[in-house]
Amino acid sequence: MQNIKLNDGNSIPAIGFGVFLVEPNGPTYEAVKKALQAGYRHIDTAAAYFNEEDVGKAVRDSGVSREEVFITSKLWLQDYGYEAAKKGIDASLQKLGMDYMDLYLLHQPYGDVAGAWKALEEAKKEGKIKSIGVSNMTPRLWKEFTAQFDTVPAVNQVECNPFFQQKELRKLLDEKGVRVEAWYPLGHGSKELLETPAIQSAAEKYGKNAGQVILRFEVQEGIIALPKSTNPARIAGNIDIFDFELTDAEMDAIRALDTGKGTHDPEAPGVGENLATLKVHK
Ligand code: A2P
Repeated sequence: MQNIKLNDGNSIPAIGFGVFLVEPNGPTYEAVKKALQAGYRHIDTAAAYFNEEDVGKAVRDSGVSREEVFITSKLWLQDYGYEAAKKGIDASLQKLGMDYMDLYLLHQPYGDVAGAWKALEEAKKEGKIKSIGVSNMTPRLWKEFTAQFDTVPAVNQVECNPFFQQKELRKLLDEKGVRVEAWYPLGHGSKELLETPAIQSAAEKYGKNAGQVILRFEVQEGIIALPKSTNPARIAGNIDIFDFELTDAEMDAIRALDTGKGTHDPEAPGVGENLATLKVHK
């Protein structure tokens, strides 16, 4: 597994196992255990995925020591604002059954983001969180919110894949050494993406599947990818991408697939209000 250096000096495995929409009470536990057996050392969960407990239990039961696994979770909107965020951080730690998280993100860019960020900065100083970051920030939201922060985030986790390469955002983040983490790195399994000729031909050449080529492309671009799978063969295959390298021409062919658009627009009217209706606790 390749590690990537963050702007705060910490390092993060380039591929993480995503558990968004993996059911709690069983499926997440099983998937995370399989992922750890397959060699993943980076798990990405969130308060709003309702499966932090399963992730923590799977890590404890896996036989892999806590220090070897990079754990990310995220604060939900309900817990924004300084005081609420302090409690939200402790709730995540308690559910995970851990005394620190490697990375903790503000899951969505709405409401009292600056207050919540202050709580993350303090928790970092206290050692409860090693690295702090944000998520779903477009270039405009990034500029608006981070202007109010004392610390530059280590990452911004956004939708990113060959059809939506976030080129403008990546240029902006590069200036501060901020890494993009990709959710939906495989376009959520989009057939259209997986069957694209530029990807298929590389897959044939290297004896890999289309998903592996896409993940390899992202890692070569310096992106941290968080593929999701509940299929054991694909779980294992998605980290088996460090024994081949795409050429400059192959990289350019995939770079040319960018449409500049994804499935989610954080700036669309009503998105923040809609998301805020989801409650993670009473
Ligand atoms: P499955 O769970 O059956 O493997 P994303 O991470 O972009 O959200 O994509 C996840 C989707 O892509 C899931 O439906 C998953 O299905 C599928 N998937 C995961 N890995 C691969 C792969 N290597 N090739 C094709 N599809 C994949």
